[in-house]
Amino acid sequence: MLSLVEASGEIARDLGVKLHVVGGAVRDLLLGRPTLDLDLVVEGNAVEVVRRLAAGLDARLVVHSRFGTAKLYSEGWVLDVVTARREEYPRPGALPVVQPGNLTDDLFRRDFTINALAFKVEPGPLGELVDPHGGLKDLEARLIRVLHPGSFVDDATRILRAVRYEQRLEFCLEERTAELMRRDVAMLDTISADRLRRELELILREPYPEKVLWRLEDVGALSRLLTWGLDEGLEARFGLARQVGPSPTLYLCLLAYLQEPTWLERFIARLRFPAKTAQAMRDTLEVKKKLPLLARAERTSGIYRLLGGHSPTAILANALVGGSSQVQEKLRLYLDKLRYVKVSLKGSDLMEMGLAPGPRLGGLLDRLLAAKLDGEAPTRDDEAGLVREWLAELETS
Ligand code: CTP
Repeated sequence: MLSLVEASGEIARDLGVKLHVVGGAVRDLLLGRPTLDLDLVVEGNAVEVVRRLAAGLDARLVVHSRFGTAKLYSEGWVLDVVTARREEYPRPGALPVVQPGNLTDDLFRRDFTINALAFKVEPGPLGELVDPHGGLKDLEARLIRVLHPGSFVDDATRILRAVRYEQRLEFCLEERTAELMRRDVAMLDTISADRLRRELELILREPYPEKVLWRLEDVGALSRLLTWGLDEGLEARFGLARQVGPSPTLYLCLLAYLQEPTWLERFIARLRFPAKTAQAMRDTLEVKKKLPLLARAERTSGIYRLLGGHSPTAILANALVGGSSQVQEKLRLYLDKLRYVKVSLKGSDLMEMGLAPGPRLGGLLDRLLAAKLDGEAPTRDDEAGLVREWLAELETS
């Protein structure tokens, strides 16, 4: 990381532009926390700096010329370089109007004092802190503080971000900031579904998302995101997810687990989830409804019939928290093995054996899969033998 910063500094010097490290990396470095994302601000052409930097590196370069920003992605780190800018919000919740600016403008457009810190790179001295808003003092006092009273009105996603940082870093909301948050909580309704959903996803990528969610309920913001309240079992469910490797979708399924479908549909509509994520949440409730039938399923093919086609994440959510241990074993069996089982024969093989294309052929393939799942046709020859038997039965019936 340091060598990247130094290399960027040399390029900036050659180009005669000022360059600073800003935002989360400065905050995390001062806190002694690891950071893999580096944000740089250039008072000048950021894209040119990144292009030159990328030339000597094995990294993927993505340029947004219109915004004067560029990103480099490599194994284990991301470098985000922006042209210093000034932002004005034409109306609450709208995306800001952007103009070129200097470092002071660029720090002033930021969300919290602890994120409005910069390290000098070019001109040096390398690493000298730029702290126009008292961010260092707030880091030491462990406080989240907005830069001005209109901050949450400009961009109410900052309400969600404030709570996310508060819980992640174990900081507190500064008193006035907490007051402003309560005052402006309704401004979350000015935020588009897509932005709200992205913020929720960031929450669900935190080490303990449930802490953030409870705290949002506390400050009166959760109801702007979720269409229901939290339940006492949430920690336990999320804790189980962490044992298997959580993902935002798995957390969403576990969040939805106790809900009625109508509330879930409102949530899906409000945040406009992509089809696959929405389906995972719906399937969680569908699979849950089938757990009593699953308890009675004796044959492997019966388990498959009940679960086949449902989202694996929804099944995993149920395997973590639903039903008896026997039912959970069946869900696991499906996830680990059954869903991968395929018959060796294809439709074309069955046609060669004399079957015409159509529903009967499809039906026989399903029957074959069931037989294979139940261990009645382990090899391709066994499958062919079974099909011949069934064809003979069909002819005589
Ligand atoms: N930022 C902001 N307002 C927002 C989003 C971002 O002011 N609504 C600024 C903050 O200064 C933040 C920086 O942009 O530090 C980078 O944003 P992001 O990558 O989301 O945050 P990080 O601080 O890097 O934090 P994280 O550790 O969560 O990645």
